[in-house]
Amino acid sequence: MRYLLFSLALFLFFGTFTVSAQAIYEDERYVPETDPQVLEKLAKWQDFKFGLLMHWGPYSQWGIVESWSICAEDEGWCRRPHEDYIAYKKEYENLKTTFNPVKFNPEKWAQAAHNAGMKYVVFTTKHHDGFCMFDSKYTDYKITSVECPFHTNSRANVTKEIFSAFRDKGMWIGAYFSKPDWKNENYWWPNFATPDRNVNYDPEAYPERWEAFVQFTHNQIMELMTDYGSVDILWLDGGWVAKKSPEFINKWYHDALKNNTSGFIKAQIINQDIRMDELVDKAREVQPGLIVVDRAVYGKNQNYLTPENRVPDHILPYPWESCIISGGGWSYTPDAVYMSGRDAIHLLTDIVAKGGNLLYNVAPGPDGEWQQGAYDLLEEIGAWIKVNGDAIYETKPIKPYRQGKFAYTQKKNGNVYAIYMPDKGETQLPSQMVVESCKPASNATVTLLGSNVKLNWKPQGNGFVVNIPASLRRNPPCQHAWALKISEVVK
Ligand code: GLC
Repeated sequence: MRYLLFSLALFLFFGTFTVSAQAIYEDERYVPETDPQVLEKLAKWQDFKFGLLMHWGPYSQWGIVESWSICAEDEGWCRRPHEDYIAYKKEYENLKTTFNPVKFNPEKWAQAAHNAGMKYVVFTTKHHDGFCMFDSKYTDYKITSVECPFHTNSRANVTKEIFSAFRDKGMWIGAYFSKPDWKNENYWWPNFATPDRNVNYDPEAYPERWEAFVQFTHNQIMELMTDYGSVDILWLDGGWVAKKSPEFINKWYHDALKNNTSGFIKAQIINQDIRMDELVDKAREVQPGLIVVDRAVYGKNQNYLTPENRVPDHILPYPWESCIISGGGWSYTPDAVYMSGRDAIHLLTDIVAKGGNLLYNVAPGPDGEWQQGAYDLLEEIGAWIKVNGDAIYETKPIKPYRQGKFAYTQKKNGNVYAIYMPDKGETQLPSQMVVESCKPASNATVTLLGSNVKLNWKPQGNGFVVNIPASLRRNPPCQHAWALKISEVVK
């Protein structure tokens, strides 16, 4: 019923406001799942709140923007530090022959993530460049190729090793997989130049070639679904590889050329039907309840939405996850500057109050290690989570979600949390907190997480005022944000 109402609301919303819809992010439209096993898994996943994303591949040796410099689009973040595209691409592909991350130790990463309170991992098994960080039998462009020095390492199939190390910590496993593959000859056919991120021929003009690519993609994903133990999330990137109607394509060109006097288009829109429904059915046969995230592709195969490097400014009434960079870029950046512990904790709190999860990206280096800054940051988050986890995990949003310095969450048992996020430089607990929009029941107890002291509170307006004793202020249970726990509120 809830979903029915929600669909109706969505219909009314988009049906009525199609003209002003530009203000709404396309990716914020959601089609509810119907498979009960998936729904069950999604509900659990929504309770996790915090996960780890890792971008890692031969590109990490150069500290560049993952695969993007071999994409010829005229965008600042894709440009090559090299005049000659052809020569550059060759050098890029040769990175495979020097990739040797001998310090690879996934147990150390899993331990750090677990201590930080992360509950799942999403790892780049293959990024757009097509290099497989797993032992695919459908390509030799992979970490286990004899041309890659790391192939002699007993842990060369890093995807398998990462998945089992994180699974051993009780964490859920997510496979990031890029649908576009810039190495595959049936995606970037060497017969033509490659002007942009898309397939470089018309799949409708060369259906057999396209079909070979569809088979290749299905085969690789089924390898991951079959040979790598239990996988919980299939996180598919490259939203431009999707079925598009002729109407969609026409409208896209019309809009793209409207205010464009030269007629130059940086990236086209092409119908690239990868037969996702069929693939998802096959994948769920071997991984029942698998959560599928066909990113930015409107429809039923996007079980949750993934705003990228941003946090929506309001609560979103469906499953969602912000993927956010903790330091540097998505992939390894020398001398990366990491987010402060305070900012990370406020980020997580803000997202959770709006009903989302935080998928926090850490980029392993070419040697197979994380930078110390990543470990330090995760440790600081972990110290906070140890005290405040009750206010984060297994919570649901509650009005007013965010207000002033407070973020609100609630538990099934009726406990409500008001998490106070101090300003920069405000390092001490205030002597008094005024909570404006949450009324404790008359017999409710109010405590600060990390302490058993029952705090003195009294109603005020639509909320309450609570005094923080000097002893607690001198000895705060944690830093960066403090959570009031209210045993019961007036509905
Ligand atoms: C962006 C980047 C891509 C990266 C992704 C992660 O889309 O272009 O390289 O994998 O973000 O969310």
